[in-house]
Amino acid sequence: MAVDPADFRAAMARFPGAVTIITTRVPEERRGITATAVCSVTAEPPSLLVCVNEKTGTCQGILQTGRFAVNLLPDPSHDLAMRFAGAGGITGEDKFAQGDWRADGQGLPILANARVAFSCELSDAVRAGSHHVLIGRIVDIHHGEGEALVFEQSRFHRLQPL
Ligand SMILES: Cc1cc2nc3c(=O)[nH]c(=O)nc-3n(C[C@H](O)[C@H](O)[C@H](O)COP(=O)(O)O)c2cc1C
Repeated sequence: MAVDPADFRAAMARFPGAVTIITTRVPEERRGITATAVCSVTAEPPSLLVCVNEKTGTCQGILQTGRFAVNLLPDPSHDLAMRFAGAGGITGEDKFAQGDWRADGQGLPILANARVAFSCELSDAVRAGSHHVLIGRIVDIHHGEGEALVFEQSRFHRLQPL
């Protein structure tokens, strides 16, 4: 029996996810989306994967340029997370009006206070329904401070040590 997409969403909402902003730069502008579908792949070579909706300009920009960055958001930065999720209809370059955004050596947007950020070169792309699974070879790591922001059951949370 087929699983109902609403059941899938409700089940996946129970998975706590580290909140990131995936960014890219096409010649004329920067693009970025909030994403929790981020996972390490291998240490040799250092690589990670992201799952990005193909309808987003970010996905198209990554496929076009072969480059992206993953910024792990610090707590607090839920306003920025909502902005990069499209809250208030803000899209494209306008999203970057909030936050201290710098450029890495390739011009990719790196958040100055990211907990950690990865500059990546696209090594593989697999189409999976509405999304693309994008595997990136990590070419640079930018270390920051603070605690990571977490999303679970449609809410942002902060980490508490046991
Ligand atoms: C907490 C959270 C996690 C998200 N995770 C993903 C994700 O992993 N992949 C994805 O494609 N979209 C994800 N989204 C949705 C995108 O952020 C959203 O579709 C995108 O920013 C829309 O941007 P646009 O209006 O500029 O196209 C997530 C949204 C939120 C609030």
